Amino acid sequence: MSQTGFQDRVAIVTGAARGMGEAVSRRLVAEGAKVCLVDRDPEALYRVADSLGERTHAIVADVTAPEQIEAFVAGTVERWGRIDMLHNNAGVTGRSGPALDSTLDDLDFVFAVNFRAAFVAIKAAAMHMTEGASIVNMSSLFGIRAAPGMGLYGASKAAVIGLTKTLAVELAPRGIRVNSVAPGAIETDLLRSSNAALHVPGGPSYDEKLKSMPMGRAGTPEEAANLIVWLLGPESTFVSGAVYQIDGARGA
Ligand SMILES: NC(=O)c1ccc[n+]([C@@H]2O[C@H](COP(=O)([O-])OP(=O)(O)OC[C@H]3O[C@@H](n4cnc5c(N)ncnc54)[C@H](O)[C@@H]3O)[C@@H](O)[C@H]2O)c1
Repeated sequence: MSQTGFQDRVAIVTGAARGMGEAVSRRLVAEGAKVCLVDRDPEALYRVADSLGERTHAIVADVTAPEQIEAFVAGTVERWGRIDMLHNNAGVTGRSGPALDSTLDDLDFVFAVNFRAAFVAIKAAAMHMTEGASIVNMSSLFGIRAAPGMGLYGASKAAVIGLTKTLAVELAPRGIRVNSVAPGAIETDLLRSSNAALHVPGGPSYDEKLKSMPMGRAGTPEEAANLIVWLLGPESTFVSGAVYQIDGARGA
């Protein structure tokens, strides 16, 4: 369904080269927005940008580097003069296994990508945002429930929810909304690789795991994008500080 009010609004989407970030970017461009696409993978990023055309601006950046985040925020303002939407989507699962087997380097890495990057990006972008702007931070069902085998990932996604709620309150007087989405299984490279990492010999296969879920399948990146774009856009103006699960009833 097409939404109104995206024409010439400016968005930044991190992790835009594939998966949900790509789906959100495609949808935003289709709605008439201009999108700064950010990813650390240049080849995949330029492929997405080329297919979307001149309403996109691709910036290769690693979100673990705060100065690279500041550079893509500045680059967006330089190119289009404003920032209306920020989707902090780039994420990694980190090393799988029991949480207490993780090293401090494992912890720092997963928090740097999944949590610190969102904080730095909001800090840099919020000063350019005005009334009506919207921020959506990517959490996970594992940020709400236990995540055995992916404990630090879950903890980083729980931290995203905490940041979302506080900033929603603190930025509300400026008319800036901040929300979070918490997907269950969404059919992307990340889901496939994390399932492979957690697979135990003789355990259920990827397909068997999906079949055992309430809807018998994973969600599609486009289904997730429907929710995220609604939260980013002008039809959700009284929604802020929320955490939306999108999981086909898996977390029910
Ligand atoms: N797929 C799922 O089932 C699922 C469930 C819950 C939450 N999530 C979250 O959704 C978000 C998107 O996941 P996806 O499944 O679309 O993953 P994906 O692996 O398909 O895409 C993630 C993108 O982020 C980019 N990225 C990773 N680290 C980066 C970095 N340091 N700097 C810049 N770019 C970086 C990757 O290059 C990739 O293009 C992630 O935050 C993930 O944790 C995914």
